[in-house]
Amino acid sequence: MADSSLAIAILAAGKGTRMRSALPKVLHRLSGLTLVENVLASTALVQPTRKLAIVGYEADQVKAALSNVLDIEFVAQTEQLGTGHAVQQVIPALEGFTGDLLVLNGDVPLLMPETVEKMLKTHRENGNAATILTAQMDDPTGYGRVFCDQHAIVKEIIEHRDCNAAQRENNRTNAGIYCFNWAALMTILPHLKADNDQNEYYLTDVIKDLSPVMAMDVSPTEVAGINNRKQLCEAEAVMQQRIKAELMLSGVTLINADSITIDSTVTIEADVTIEPQTNLRGRSVIKAGCRIGPSSLVEDSTIGANTTLVHSVVTDSEVAANGRIGPFAHIRGHALVGENCRIGNFVEVKKSVIGNNTNAAHLSYLGDAELGERVNVGAGTITVNYDGKNKHKTVIGDRTKTGANSSLVAPITIGSDVTIGAGSVLTRDVEADCLVFARSPQKSIPGWKPKYLRDEQKS
Ligand code: UD1
Ligand code: CA
Repeated sequence: MADSSLAIAILAAGKGTRMRSALPKVLHRLSGLTLVENVLASTALVQPTRKLAIVGYEADQVKAALSNVLDIEFVAQTEQLGTGHAVQQVIPALEGFTGDLLVLNGDVPLLMPETVEKMLKTHRENGNAATILTAQMDDPTGYGRVFCDQHAIVKEIIEHRDCNAAQRENNRTNAGIYCFNWAALMTILPHLKADNDQNEYYLTDVIKDLSPVMAMDVSPTEVAGINNRKQLCEAEAVMQQRIKAELMLSGVTLINADSITIDSTVTIEADVTIEPQTNLRGRSVIKAGCRIGPSSLVEDSTIGANTTLVHSVVTDSEVAANGRIGPFAHIRGHALVGENCRIGNFVEVKKSVIGNNTNAAHLSYLGDAELGERVNVGAGTITVNYDGKNKHKTVIGDRTKTGANSSLVAPITIGSDVTIGAGSVLTRDVEADCLVFARSPQKSIPGWKPKYLRDEQKS
């Protein structure tokens, strides 16, 4: 008798030959997460007590991609001898286990958590030996075909390549998502044979020997498998539609939504407007009231409330509330921009801390710098942070104004309330409350003319 404990096993050992890639298939990305992370996300509502990932091809890379998943256990499949062989590898790990095993293909990333929850409920209510997800596909080419009676009781699954012409007419396909009573599966799984066209151990072969096995039809979209990059692109379109629909219903305005991409890992508060050609990626957070775009990229960054960001790129950084960013600003490398700041046209901010109410409106590079509050960075100010080997720090105190085209050669500390004359090249620290300039004095030479003019006037 099965108890209510649940283990999941994700098949992630294959290479994915049809992707034509050096990267294992399950590590290709879909809306910001790897395929295998998307698959894991589909189990969010079922609380598994054990989480197993079967890894083989480039196992270390796959393990690294899942290393932040709590309590995940990796099971090695050193040779990829088929999906049945893959599940056989979990037998030692599940010694003494008495619950149900949910098996998920690592390349079926659009599955909804609600579907998995419903599948498990159906499985348990009916006391099934196995419950499988199926879909009636317009074009079932490549998928295993599921043969059922009129009560959705499954007789067998036959792989596309092992089907005869009549069997191929059946458009009910196997999704590769199974819930097994583990004890029942254990009576069959160890005895699989590889007598098929591919000489592989097929997990699908256990079905004909288990009873009862029930099929649960779901939408073809949800269980589409990714075997090549064309299918990856189609899945991306579906995922983007889902993400954007959810955001719009939660109070986010998307202008020309088709031109925008948003990762599933991005958080956007209500009353944000995203303008066309904007891409929001990674663990980014966009706070209420922002206007982002057109044509902007925000990656792994937080944008504070009521900030506008136009034609700009922000990566790995944080902009606090009421910012005015762009057009054409680049904020990167763990930069922290304070509240009410203006980072304007062609300004790059790298690994710098910018105090509240500070402005850098035009044509500047601020790298490895620490700016106080109410600083005004004059047009063309450059922190000269790199000597060709090491990076050095620039510190600028509150209310200081850097003149246009000043070069601040780091390491350098400039006090508060300093005015820097335009065109200065500063190489030494500057005390607070002063005017400082470092440039060649201006000279006029009365009556001077170019030689050709003097020659003309002589003749
Ligand atoms: C499999 C099913 C097929 C179903 C389809 C749904 C079998 C025999 N066939 O076919 O009925 O319609 O999925 O998408 O199961 N893997 C391993 N180790 C292996 C082989 C595969 O871990 O030795 C993993 C792959 O990494 C992949 C998954 O299992 O994540 C499915 O393998 P794949 O080769 O894509 O199976 P399909 O031919 O698509
Ligand atoms: Ca597949």
